Amino acid sequence: MNAMKKLIAGNWKMNGSRADNAALLAGIAAGLPANACDVLVCPPAVYIADVVQALQGTAVMVGSQDVSAADKGAFTGELSAAMLADCGVRYAIVGHSERRLYHGETDAVVGAKAQAALAKGITPIVCVGETLEQREAGETQAVVKRQLAGAIHAVAHCVSEIVVAYEPVWAIGTGKTASPEQAQEVHAVLRAQLAAATEQSGRVRILYGGSMNAANAQTLLAQPDIDGGLIGGAALKAADFLTIIQAAS
Ligand code: PGA
Repeated sequence: MNAMKKLIAGNWKMNGSRADNAALLAGIAAGLPANACDVLVCPPAVYIADVVQALQGTAVMVGSQDVSAADKGAFTGELSAAMLADCGVRYAIVGHSERRLYHGETDAVVGAKAQAALAKGITPIVCVGETLEQREAGETQAVVKRQLAGAIHAVAHCVSEIVVAYEPVWAIGTGKTASPEQAQEVHAVLRAQLAAATEQSGRVRILYGGSMNAANAQTLLAQPDIDGGLIGGAALKAADFLTIIQAAS
């Protein structure tokens, strides 16, 4: 599993401006190692076309932070997978805990989004993760398995095409990272669940997310079932993001 190329994905969330993005991307492009792991940035949708253009000629790929489950039509404010693919998007984050919490996204909605992305050639990054309350109640494994099961069910025979991100909600933006052992324990559970669903589970990258930073990336990425990172805050600083990329390369 360790032979798999790691993926480092920056989730910019609702941050940035044209000027900030240009500076950040120039910094990333200038420092990218020659043998880099796969690198992805997920800017706010309104900047996607700009970012795709700015990254032309580099190995850095562009993703979206969300995608509509619907194909087209009367869905005010939504962006379809076809539109995103048309603009150069290769990956779409689906089911981020902020979308589940603030937009009421259920496992069924998240699964439908993953399926919609795949249908247009976009790789969904399916996010799962427990809240602090759920962890303390001993429900972590049940919660992440239920969330992943929703996506596995929805994408059916395409399970090997997805990326999974384990993001404990209590670690996101809090500076509290899961310990490498805590993360590995959950990643192993997810790997086993994927293995039961597809013979090609070894192809599925399982990212860790939640306060991954320049200081802790190396030990997290050294775990056998951690195949990359989904990075929020530390993805907004070129130097920090590059340090994480180096740790994964
Ligand atoms: P964080 O965010 O790195 O700022 O904790 C990670 C995420 O929410 O994807």
